[in-house]
Amino acid sequence: MSIIMNGKELSAEIRSELKKEVNRLKEYNIIPKLAVIMVGDDKASQIYVRNKSRACDDIGIQYEEYLLPSTIEEKELYSIIDKLNKRKDVNGILLQSPIPKHLNIDKAFQRISPEKDVDGFNPINVGKLSLGQDTFVSCTPYGIIKILEKYNINLEGTNAVIVGRSNIVGKPLAQCFLAKHATVTICHSRTKNIEEITQKADIVVVALGKSKFLKENMVKDGAIVIDVGINRDEQGKISGDADYENLKDKVSYITPVPGGVGPMTITMLMNNVIKATKEQML
Ligand code: GUN
Repeated sequence: MSIIMNGKELSAEIRSELKKEVNRLKEYNIIPKLAVIMVGDDKASQIYVRNKSRACDDIGIQYEEYLLPSTIEEKELYSIIDKLNKRKDVNGILLQSPIPKHLNIDKAFQRISPEKDVDGFNPINVGKLSLGQDTFVSCTPYGIIKILEKYNINLEGTNAVIVGRSNIVGKPLAQCFLAKHATVTICHSRTKNIEEITQKADIVVVALGKSKFLKENMVKDGAIVIDVGINRDEQGKISGDADYENLKDKVSYITPVPGGVGPMTITMLMNNVIKATKEQML
């Protein structure tokens, strides 16, 4: 029988712990604050940003938003980031991606002070993660690790396959899995015969943004499937990157969409804002 991994429930559990943590900080007159910068009017980003603001409200984190026009110049964007870097009352800074093409996202992420980089996208923090040092782990990979821990899944010695090599999910997740002693393979759009690789996996993570890409014939019996995809069809119906209905009776564990990895991402962001706040107190 397969186990459906409930990210929504776990997220609520973690949030209730985070609320207690925020209340403890309030006893020292400290209220964590997150600043979010969004450039342009990407529709998906608007939803993500709104959800981040709601999560902050829910947990008791202060929230400040910078909605910048898509025509903004690099210099102006950097000046806003620099000011936020300097402000003592701002603990975390998040630049929502994507940003318009005339701006360089890598340089912009690098501009955010590593101590406030709650997304874990500054190269200093990316480097620390790859060296196995304490840092801000980017939120989706961190959420996946928390789900696996909740269900007592030990990655040591497992054959883990990640489909998708993004800087936001695939690459940092590979580092997290390595730290847990898995043997890690990353597949991507140029990989030949992906199914031959996924069929050998004990755990498959799909994070490529293609609805129902991972089919029943691509995984072995009893594999673990983690689905990072959030795809919307014309009717607005949400599906993941895994063909959930056909996989769910073949695998040992699977994350649903919605209600799996998705709810964990913002919760781990909240976790990182509180971590940043505590470290800045020292
Ligand atoms: N765009 C899509 N996902 C993310 C994320 O986790 N962080 C940021 N900053 N932008 C995103």
